[in-house]
Amino acid sequence: MIQNAVYQKCIHAACGATVAADEVHVACPTCGDLLDVVYDWSKMNVPRRLGDFQARWANRTSRLDFSGVWRFRELLNFCDDAHKVTLGEGQTLLQPNAGVARYVGVGPGTLHLQYEGLNPSGSFKDNGMTAAFSHARMVGARRVACASTGNTSASLALYAAHAGMQSIVFIGSGRIAFGKLAQALDYGARTLQIAGDFDACMRRVKEAAARLGLYLMNSVNPFRLEGQKTIMLRVLEALAWQAPDWIVVPGGNLGNSSAFGKAFAELKQLGLIDRVPRLAVINAAGADTLDRLVNQKKLRWNGGHYDRQAILDDWKWQDQTRRLPHTIASAIEIARPVNAAKCLRALEVCDGVVRTVSDAEILDAKAQVGRHGLGCEPASAASVAGARKLVEEGIIDRDARVVCILTGHALKDPDATVGYHTGKFAPGKEVAGERHFANMPIPVEDDIEAICRAIEG
Ligand code: F0G
Repeated sequence: MIQNAVYQKCIHAACGATVAADEVHVACPTCGDLLDVVYDWSKMNVPRRLGDFQARWANRTSRLDFSGVWRFRELLNFCDDAHKVTLGEGQTLLQPNAGVARYVGVGPGTLHLQYEGLNPSGSFKDNGMTAAFSHARMVGARRVACASTGNTSASLALYAAHAGMQSIVFIGSGRIAFGKLAQALDYGARTLQIAGDFDACMRRVKEAAARLGLYLMNSVNPFRLEGQKTIMLRVLEALAWQAPDWIVVPGGNLGNSSAFGKAFAELKQLGLIDRVPRLAVINAAGADTLDRLVNQKKLRWNGGHYDRQAILDDWKWQDQTRRLPHTIASAIEIARPVNAAKCLRALEVCDGVVRTVSDAEILDAKAQVGRHGLGCEPASAASVAGARKLVEEGIIDRDARVVCILTGHALKDPDATVGYHTGKFAPGKEVAGERHFANMPIPVEDDIEAICRAIEG
């Protein structure tokens, strides 16, 4: 790190307060808005061409070169190498998928899937955790905490076990997929099942962190988002550094979409790309706050002068109408996305759009991703369902180069998958609507004639 070349800065244009990179804040100490990590690039050594990063990947004996996050380290240069905590995350590869392209309605070579389920804890979160843990180590943190719909807690618990820190996770009781709960328990996290939803957990973990001095690992932590920028760098790398036409991503707490927007804004500022892709953020119908803010209330970033009160009013309206989020895509069952403002910025940078898809559409899309040889968890498939909707609407052209981000591994939520294929969902998790690609298991007697009949169909 180069002293004074990196600092944290309030995102709100009317405030713009700055704090040092080695301080720990989850909000601007002056106005309470979100903080960004900001670099003075003129004082930093940044490669002139993006292609310069690529050669590092071959260097498998260097942990930092091998990491799909840290091989881009000059673009997230906030800590010394000695502090970096890495598990070799980010070994993910963009895949063209003709079958899913057909489903989405675009040409066979044009749809790509970025499967972040291949990370060490099985989701994109590891991109962010490696960065936030590096900051945590830099500031001497010992106890780390998060609220989670499951993947953040799994990733945090894994990295804490690796870094020798104590982990505390807050999860909504009964609202986490079993694969994710299993990970948090196995990696040794102190796991608090709060009688409430994700938004309640988020509120409480902030209070507990402030009171007990826990280092908060949710995406209000700006250092986490620095790591998540690299998902876009790997997408660009796989496309020979040509920006695609569209990036489509599920929206929950809106950390990913925010990080993607920041990545493209910085690359443009540095002259490393000449074109920014468009961004589509996809909500689940039962957790559609961003859709409401952007499409109904017409909330915009407005060069940093966004209407913060409009967001707070929406939270208040949710309280008054007792509106609670509900979706089979439990990872994105979030009604008060903490990064809403940064996501508005990303939408401005990337000329973005927001859409909502139903649970039935999500599960159909998920089945298509599985059927065509990759698989993902329900929330991830919102990206594919959203891309399909945008093609139908004529917003995404049929010959556009589209990248859908598959955020989590297929095995994270087997209940949802088996529920879809058998029609027997867990109580309280039923999904209405047709299951167009259901693949029912076939009960067969223990008899070779019956088995052969079953095979021949
Ligand atoms: N997809 C998956 C698989 C996720 O786990 C999440 C978020 C998202 C998409 C949404 O990403 O928050 O950046 O908009 N999961 C968080 C968690 C909230 O606690 O694991 P986002």
